[in-house]
Amino acid sequence: MSYGLAIEVKDLTYVYPDGTLALKDVNLSVKEREFIAFIGQNGSGKTTLSKNIAGLLKPTEGEVRIFGRSTKDMRIKDMATSVGYVFQNPDHQIFNMTVYDEIAFGPRNLLLPEDEVRERVLEASKIVGLSEEYMEESPFFLPKGLRQRVAIASILALRPKVIIVDEPTTGQDWKQSIEIMEFLKYLNGLGHTIIIVTHEMEIVAKYAERTVVMANGRKLLDGPTNEVFAEHELLRKAFVKPPQPTRAAYALRKYGVRQDVLSVQELVEEVIKSFKRSQERRTEAGLNTESAH
Ligand SMILES: Nc1ncnc2c1ncn2[C@@H]1O[C@H](COP(=O)(O)OP(=O)(O)O)[C@@H](O)[C@H]1O
Ligand SMILES: [Mg+2]
Repeated sequence: MSYGLAIEVKDLTYVYPDGTLALKDVNLSVKEREFIAFIGQNGSGKTTLSKNIAGLLKPTEGEVRIFGRSTKDMRIKDMATSVGYVFQNPDHQIFNMTVYDEIAFGPRNLLLPEDEVRERVLEASKIVGLSEEYMEESPFFLPKGLRQRVAIASILALRPKVIIVDEPTTGQDWKQSIEIMEFLKYLNGLGHTIIIVTHEMEIVAKYAERTVVMANGRKLLDGPTNEVFAEHELLRKAFVKPPQPTRAAYALRKYGVRQDVLSVQELVEEVIKSFKRSQERRTEAGLNTESAH
């Protein structure tokens, strides 16, 4: 099955008002239903790119198209239902007095009737695993992990087709990270396009089908995650460390171990295969000690 284009970034250059050149000639196409990770060193441009895709920043040069329409021509309301951006720091996003009002804020801005607002709030809360007991609490006093969920729920309540989550797992433990990622995967299964910005390479390896590596405001690499992580030399230049199983495969490359492994499981299978190959070669060469007798 083939899907249409969700996002087209064409020759995007972005300069902040203080003159900082944050993005230079970035090109990127994202199809509907993709699950992508943006990775790269701090300051490489991931957040600026995400905000340009969400229409929160407008290109200095070039263009960003969302489902065929330039963000320069789109109103906030159209943007909000097309691309949802969850801020790197949930505290930059949260400003209502109760969890309920926070999540209801977007739908109310769409001028939806209050019963539909309620339905969306409850649905979004359920997806992120926020129980009803939190609805009248102040989001500011919740632990960071829960504030992150409130921030994500408030975006989900708008039901955007594309969801960008900037560093969703930073400051969360492994269990919380997996919970957040599993529900992003669930949303992806429902048809949403998902972009995550992250420094956690195990998370990228486990969830993202495609990975974009940013370096100094430019796109350095873009492809299937296993192929991107096999680019050891380029990644070293971008100060990106591939996941540990991929690094182990690199250390074992002279034994013929395949380079694009992402998990411990794959690595073990590869090591066993190359061990078997070398045993076969020894047997053929008459070097196998057992068969020598
Ligand atoms: N509001 C801003 N004003 C000026 N420069 C900024 C601003 N936000 C980010 N930058 C700069 O833009 C570049 C890209 O930053 P950013 O997109 O936040 O990178 P990343 O998310 O990969 O860490 C960096 O040099 C950063 O210092
Ligand atoms: Mg950032």
